[in-house]
Amino acid sequence: MKEIIILTSLLANLVLQVAPELAEDGRLDFTGLANKYGYTCEEHNVTTEDGYILKLFHVPGSSSRPILLMHGIIDSADTFIIRGNKSLVAVLASRGYDIWVGNVRGTQYSRAHTQLDPDKNKEFWDYSYHELGYYDLPAIIDYILSRTNADKLNAIGHSQGNSIFFVLGSTKPEYNDKVNLLIALAPVGYLTNLPPPWSFITRAGNVLNEILIALDTDELFNKQLRTVVQDMCSVETELCASMLGELGGPDAEELEPAFIPVLIGHYPISTSRKNGEHLVQNAMDKKFCKFDYGSKTNMEIYGQKSPPDYDLRKVTMKVALYGSRNDRLVPVANMKLLEKELANVVEFRIIKRRQFNHMDHVWGRNMDKHLFPHVLKTLEKYN
Ligand SMILES: *[C@@H]1O[C@H](CO)[C@@H](O)[C@H](O)[C@H]1NC(C)=O
Ligand SMILES: *[C@@H]1O[C@H](CO)[C@@H](O)[C@H](O)[C@H]1NC(C)=O
Repeated sequence: MKEIIILTSLLANLVLQVAPELAEDGRLDFTGLANKYGYTCEEHNVTTEDGYILKLFHVPGSSSRPILLMHGIIDSADTFIIRGNKSLVAVLASRGYDIWVGNVRGTQYSRAHTQLDPDKNKEFWDYSYHELGYYDLPAIIDYILSRTNADKLNAIGHSQGNSIFFVLGSTKPEYNDKVNLLIALAPVGYLTNLPPPWSFITRAGNVLNEILIALDTDELFNKQLRTVVQDMCSVETELCASMLGELGGPDAEELEPAFIPVLIGHYPISTSRKNGEHLVQNAMDKKFCKFDYGSKTNMEIYGQKSPPDYDLRKVTMKVALYGSRNDRLVPVANMKLLEKELANVVEFRIIKRRQFNHMDHVWGRNMDKHLFPHVLKTLEKYN
C-alpha cells in the first residue's frame, strides 16, 4: 500500500514540474568523473563471442595483479565512481591498484553489437544474467589478462555483478583459475526469503512480464522511462530517496536526498525484460537455475524438462561474501545458502552497522569508514 501511495504522489508531482537540472557529477560520464577527481582513465572495447561490444574503463595503477569491478542490474561502471574521491575507484587508485571497470551488454556504454542494432533488433535484448556470465564476463577477463600479462585477476562485484561470476564459474569452470579472489558485495544468487516489497513485486512479476510482452517491450529502463525518473527525482529528491530505501532498505544517513540529483544521472540503466523475467522465475521457484523456456524448449536446450541449477560446487575461485542485515534484496539467510554451496568461501562478513543496506556498498557516503577498510584488508590478505 505504502508503495502505491508514494508512486501516486510522484506521478502527481510529475505533472506539475519543470525540466530537470542534474548536478555536475550527474552529467559527467565515467571518464569525466575519473578526470575530475584526479585520475587518468582509458576506454577499451571488448567484443564478446556473440558479437556484443562492451566498454571497459581502465584506471592504471602499479599493482601487478589487476582488479576488475562489476556492477549490478540496471546499473553501470559509474556506480563505482559517483561518490567522487570517496568512491571505491578513488580508494583503490590511491593505493596503486590497477583498476578495470566493466559494463555488461545493454548499459549505456555497451549498447553496441557487430550486427544488431539495439533500437531496431529485438534479438539484441534476448539475454538474461546467464549471458552476462557466460559471454560478457569471460570476454572481459580474457581481455584484461592479455593486456596486463597477468595470470589471474582479483574482482569485486556488487549485487548481480556477483551472480555473473557464479554463472561463469559453474558453466565454464576453467575460468575459476583466472580469478584469484572475488569480493562479493551484496551477492545475489538465491532469491528466496525476500521480505516486502520484493515478495510482492515478484508475485506481481509474472503479470508485469506479460504486460511488457504485450507492449512489445524488450528493453527495461529505456531512455523514455529514465527521463520520467529524472524528471520526478530532480524535484522530489526526498521522496525518491525514501523510495530507494523501500526497495533496498532504508538508510537516510548514507543515502541523503542531496545525493539523488547525482545518482539519477547514472541510474537506472537499461537491461533486458528477459533478465527481469529470469529473476522472477528464480524467486518463484526458489532456485538459482538457468532460464525456464517451458518444458518443450527446455528439453531441446537442456535435455531435461526443467532448467538445470547452477552448480555452485563448481565455483572454486576464492569468494569473500559481504552483506548486511538491512539489505532487502539479499537477506543474510540467502548469503548462508551461498556459503553452504560455493566451494571456496574464505570470508563471510556481515557489516556491523544496523542500517547498512543493499546500495550502501556502492553509493553510501561514508564507506571509507564502514566498508572499504574491510575490503582493503581482504584484498591484502588473499592477494
Ligand atoms: C568502440 O566501440 C564503439 C561502438 O561500436 C565505437 O563507436 C568506437 O569507435 C569504438 N572505439 C574504439 C577505440 O575502437
Ligand atoms: C575530495 O573532494 C572534495 C571536493 O569535491 C575536496 O574538498 C576534498 O579535499 C577531496 N578530498 C580528498 C581526500 O582528495
